[in-house]
Amino acid sequence: MLKNFWYACEFSSVVTHQPTQIVMLNQRFVLYRDSQGQVVALKDQCPHRGAALSLGWVEGDCIRCPYHGWKFQSDGRCIEIPANAPETPIPKKAIAETYPVKESQGFIWLFYGDLPEAERHPLPTFPAYLFSDMHAAYNDEIEHANYARLMEVNIDFAHVVAIHRKSFGQRVPMNKQIRYQVQEDDWSGVAKFSYDSLGSSKTILNFLLGGRPEFTTTLTYYLPNITLAEIHVGGKGRGAIKIGILVAYLPIDEKHRGVNAFSIATS
Ligand code: FES
Repeated sequence: MLKNFWYACEFSSVVTHQPTQIVMLNQRFVLYRDSQGQVVALKDQCPHRGAALSLGWVEGDCIRCPYHGWKFQSDGRCIEIPANAPETPIPKKAIAETYPVKESQGFIWLFYGDLPEAERHPLPTFPAYLFSDMHAAYNDEIEHANYARLMEVNIDFAHVVAIHRKSFGQRVPMNKQIRYQVQEDDWSGVAKFSYDSLGSSKTILNFLLGGRPEFTTTLTYYLPNITLAEIHVGGKGRGAIKIGILVAYLPIDEKHRGVNAFSIATS
């Protein structure tokens, strides 16, 4: 699992003024929105006796621990210990660990690492159509697999003719060669390829699209935990179909991953 990256760790719409626990990278984090709607990310462990802050509650810009009621600011500093007299100084160690956090393109992004702000990589920019002319379908699930294996599957088209031969891969000829055109930059990679037929001219889809539709597929990965599969069927003509599947994989630990996905289709 990779350090010093921005991780898309939750849907924006899920994070509210109620604390939300995120389990990722063998750690527990808590997210909440302050009174201005800004998202705050803290380690989900109170520095007093280790209670989960996510079981506590938000008061204005602060979160209060559910155990002894210590109150923490968004910068992690404790500003109130109910059992102490008001004039008692707050111990210097009474500070919860905080994490840089951003909100963009439907996700909450948490930076896990120790790089200073100026050296952190930029967030990816997804194609605008994913958020405008398409319909988003959100999905949360947990699977027993390393997250990197699942990412690999979504950018590997060559497996479709074999493992999916009884479902959506049945119309792709077994001997169909795939020639990727690959472009990479420091934080992402794109592979494109196209083919001109589903193999049989008698399929319903071929019929609806006027026979031998052209497929263009673009598979993109964005480090550290996102893939995007874009499939255009039928060129630019009437009846063309455009499908985009954007998936953010949550690396819970070495053996489990959660998936926060939006799958989108239309046009
Ligand atoms: S464990 Fe959080 S206040 Fe005591």
